[in-house]
Amino acid sequence: MEIIRSISGMREFSGDCLQSNKSIGFVPTMGALHDGHLSIVRQSTGANDITVVSIFINPTQFSEGEDFNCYPRDYDGDIRKLDGLYGGKIAAVFMPEANDIYPDGYKTYVEVRGLSEKLCGMFRPGHFTGVATVVLKLFNAVNPTRAYFGLKDYQQCAVLKKMRDDLNLDCEIVLCPTVREADGLAMSSRNAYLSMEQRLDAPCIYKALKDTGHAIKNGSLKIKDIAAKLHETLSAVKSITEIQYASAYDPDTLDEITRGVRVLIAVAVKMGTTRLIDNILVEL
Ligand code: PAF
Repeated sequence: MEIIRSISGMREFSGDCLQSNKSIGFVPTMGALHDGHLSIVRQSTGANDITVVSIFINPTQFSEGEDFNCYPRDYDGDIRKLDGLYGGKIAAVFMPEANDIYPDGYKTYVEVRGLSEKLCGMFRPGHFTGVATVVLKLFNAVNPTRAYFGLKDYQQCAVLKKMRDDLNLDCEIVLCPTVREADGLAMSSRNAYLSMEQRLDAPCIYKALKDTGHAIKNGSLKIKDIAAKLHETLSAVKSITEIQYASAYDPDTLDEITRGVRVLIAVAVKMGTTRLIDNILVEL
């Protein structure tokens, strides 16, 4: 497994792979790898000749006052986890330097209008512009045949698919199911911030999503009443200090809905300073 630290090195490596007709699966990450990431990597190694995993904590997707400086970093541990995994099909880890991605005088950003301002975008202004920009830059370095993203970040997936379509990118975007702890909490690098008490309360988020999902399926709850039900349930949880959003949304436009046959039920809450998001998609 090669460790590649520059855009030029990455382009050379991917150029060689493509010349020998090898498909490249790409898993962009910000490191602090957990089983959720590894399951995404497994999907990629199963479907491509080689896989590239990137580790880059992207400064432009963090707003002022967010956790950029203390975001969990364990580069050596991450490399150890990936080395030799899945039959050695992870050919490279791409770990660019921040000043290679954003050199002095950097001015170009990708803005996916319409989807970026909703849900998380209301509370993290500029976040999805940072995500779309870095993912496009990583795509240009890695030249992936397929790129893999986890559905826990549903809005990120929607924004990146739209960027792919609008910019005619020649890369398939593959969406991977959310991986959960045994008690239902969606895996996330930020779970490491939770205190013991918050961690014990955190599975209530998925439980609330599942309960409302079942209730709209069996007809005991109307879509228009999902927001009220979620707020009632989540506000009763001691560790939840803020509910940023919790409602039913159109899975394509991310607009809040009161009726429909495909319903995205999505939640963002804060437990102290830690922000947790989760969602389920219900087909009626
Ligand atoms: O989901 C993430 O870890 C990040 O948003 C991504 C896609 C690696 C871009 O920095």
